[in-house]
Amino acid sequence: MKIVVSGKGGVGKTTIAGTLARVFASRGYSVIAVDSDPSMNLHTAIGVENPTPISHLKELINERAVIAPGMYSLNPRVDDIPERFSSVRDNLRLIVMGTVEQAGQGCLCPENTFLRALLRHLVLRRREMLILDTEAGVEHLGRSVARNFDLMLVVVEPGAKAISMANRLVELSGRLGIARVYGVANKVADEEQVRFIEEHLSVELLERVPYDSRVVEADIKNVPLVDLDDKSPALRSIVRLSEKIEGLVGSQLTPD
Ligand SMILES: Nc1ncnc2c1ncn2[C@@H]1O[C@H](COP(=O)(O)OP(=O)(O)OP(=O)(O)O)[C@@H](O)[C@H]1O
Ligand SMILES: [Mg+2]
Repeated sequence: MKIVVSGKGGVGKTTIAGTLARVFASRGYSVIAVDSDPSMNLHTAIGVENPTPISHLKELINERAVIAPGMYSLNPRVDDIPERFSSVRDNLRLIVMGTVEQAGQGCLCPENTFLRALLRHLVLRRREMLILDTEAGVEHLGRSVARNFDLMLVVVEPGAKAISMANRLVELSGRLGIARVYGVANKVADEEQVRFIEEHLSVELLERVPYDSRVVEADIKNVPLVDLDDKSPALRSIVRLSEKIEGLVGSQLTPD
């Protein structure tokens, strides 16, 4: 199953993506976590070092993706990339995209072609999960890396800006052929905030993650939330989220 995590800046995308990755790995899934945010901090939520970012592989990309000046192969060879350029821990592999130049929507630079091919190449089988953490906002949708993903989680915190960004993401996700889109409320303090989100968000909420000072503590100590302790209410909620995602797999999102 391929999952993309998106939302406004600072809503908790990386915390949720990284924690989900670890939770799925601990339950025996083979997980590929992909960081497409140029600030490259998914590794801290997972607890591994960053591998060489794909965008640094200029020579290799040019060799494989450029046919002639200005002409790019849509099918560059990528099969060796996950093995060579990732960090590994238990059942989990982290791939980092790095900074890809963006000449507006749908930029055709070779890095983009290469990254899209890489994500397409990672066709997953049962008990495999790909979790893509994205940069804030809608820009990444223009790069089409999440095309044909099975699930988009749009993270929202209580607030009009987060909701308006989430609704834009939902609208645009349709163009990418993403099979399902759900909201995940994060940093919620009470029922009233959940109701506010439910009233204004254009998709159903799959889970509500409470505001939890342990998330901040994990951030301060620079350790993954899953390694801090198991009493974190936010962690428990993300575990529930992972179970609901499993339920979606059960209802056959991805045929094997
Ligand atoms: N449930 C929570 N309770 C308390 N704090 C949280 C919670 N979730 C995330 N945070 C805090 O919010 C901040 C932003 O979280 P995170 O980096 O995961 O968001 P992001 O959406 O990935 O941000 P960016 O857009 O910068 O990539 C962090 O300081 C994190 O510790
Ligand atoms: Mg982030």
